[in-house]
Amino acid sequence: KHCFSKKEDGYLYCEGQKVQDVMESVEKRPFYLYSKPQITRNVVAYKNALEGLRSIIGYAIKANNNVKILEHLRELGCGAVLVSGNELRLALATGFDPTKCIFNGNGKTLEDLVLAAESGVFVNIDSEFDLDNIISAAKITGKRVNVLLRINPDVDPQVHPYVATGNKNSKFGIRNEKLQWFLDAVKAHPNELKLVGAHCHLGSTITKVDIFRDAAVLMVDYIDQIRDQGFEISYLNIGGGLGIDYYHAGAVLPTPRDLINTVRELVLSRDLNLIIEPGRSLIANTCCLVNRVTGVKTNGTKNFIVIDGSMAELIRPSLYDAYQHIELVSPAPSDVELLTFDVVGPVCESADFLGKERKLPTPQSGAGLVVHDAGAYCMSMASTYNLKMRPPEYWIEEDGSVAKIRHGETFEDHMRYFSGL
Ligand code: LLP
Repeated sequence: KHCFSKKEDGYLYCEGQKVQDVMESVEKRPFYLYSKPQITRNVVAYKNALEGLRSIIGYAIKANNNVKILEHLRELGCGAVLVSGNELRLALATGFDPTKCIFNGNGKTLEDLVLAAESGVFVNIDSEFDLDNIISAAKITGKRVNVLLRINPDVDPQVHPYVATGNKNSKFGIRNEKLQWFLDAVKAHPNELKLVGAHCHLGSTITKVDIFRDAAVLMVDYIDQIRDQGFEISYLNIGGGLGIDYYHAGAVLPTPRDLINTVRELVLSRDLNLIIEPGRSLIANTCCLVNRVTGVKTNGTKNFIVIDGSMAELIRPSLYDAYQHIELVSPAPSDVELLTFDVVGPVCESADFLGKERKLPTPQSGAGLVVHDAGAYCMSMASTYNLKMRPPEYWIEEDGSVAKIRHGETFEDHMRYFSGL
């Protein structure tokens, strides 16, 4: 069941609320609208799937860093995956348990690592220089750091090249042929480092669980090799990356249960704790970007619906040619013609589109139009290009009420960066 769906009256609803009514009750600008109960349901799906395993659900904060959403995920028992000093600060500020947090990244600075060592989160070793910095951070803070080795298993995730991360020429992680070098280096620093596990992350939007299984088979083999050398490691981190149904065309995609079941026996056979790092599959389908139609125009052979939202609020279509489902929030009169439209924003770039060649009824100016599955990598990748200013966020709570969960940025916010200079 999807939290945003059309009822018989032809209107789009979210958790019992008519999206049209929400539009009329909030500021007149594009906004993100989330379902809080859907966030809960997504976490529960992972929790149920993980039953019988020792595990950490490390939510990938990069997907969506709204403080209210983070607090909710933390209350539901999630840990967090962090890729910058500020994401680490945010996880700590929103009360995440540091022993359920993993600090990851190929360019962690010494300053960030000092904070990580101080706070007691797990740290992934990504390269030779990264290892040097982790050792320095341990020395500076006097803390022994729990580390995982991020190994690059070279399994093809079969996704857009921009979101593939585990192939052999990737900038992330270490190659397996360097494993021994890293084990020797860790062994030489027993006061600074405690090797507790191995990590991999193949990529994002993965829609075949066999890919995770292939990687897990390789990873437990590495874990066997690491244990053979006397390391008592207990964590296998298989990263994130489970895809979602962006097309809304009836495809059956793997669920969290399918994902966990494909690695369950391997994890149990080695008596491991499983860490997973979902971002998209926890948060993407909980949200729509709600826009208003500014007008409709035609040029050459193209029809355009121009909306107030744009690549500034939601860049995935422009950046990855990603498909996100689009529909109008209110029913079209039955005699309205369906045409093929490009749905575009007002930004001065031809790459500013939210959808291409979509069959839609010709909308009236002012009509509501949503871009679905906008909970992950949309607001967190928003910019202020063309001074669009980042939009406000709302969610619908369990009792059906609408609450603001982030203020929209304003022109005054922009001017503030220059005051007193
Ligand atoms: N763990 C690591 C180490 C990662 O690099 C990522 C995502 C995740 C976990 C979470 O992956 P997820 O479950 O969300 O697929 N901006 C792109 C996605 C970039 C993903 C980067 N890494 C997009 O909009 O599709």
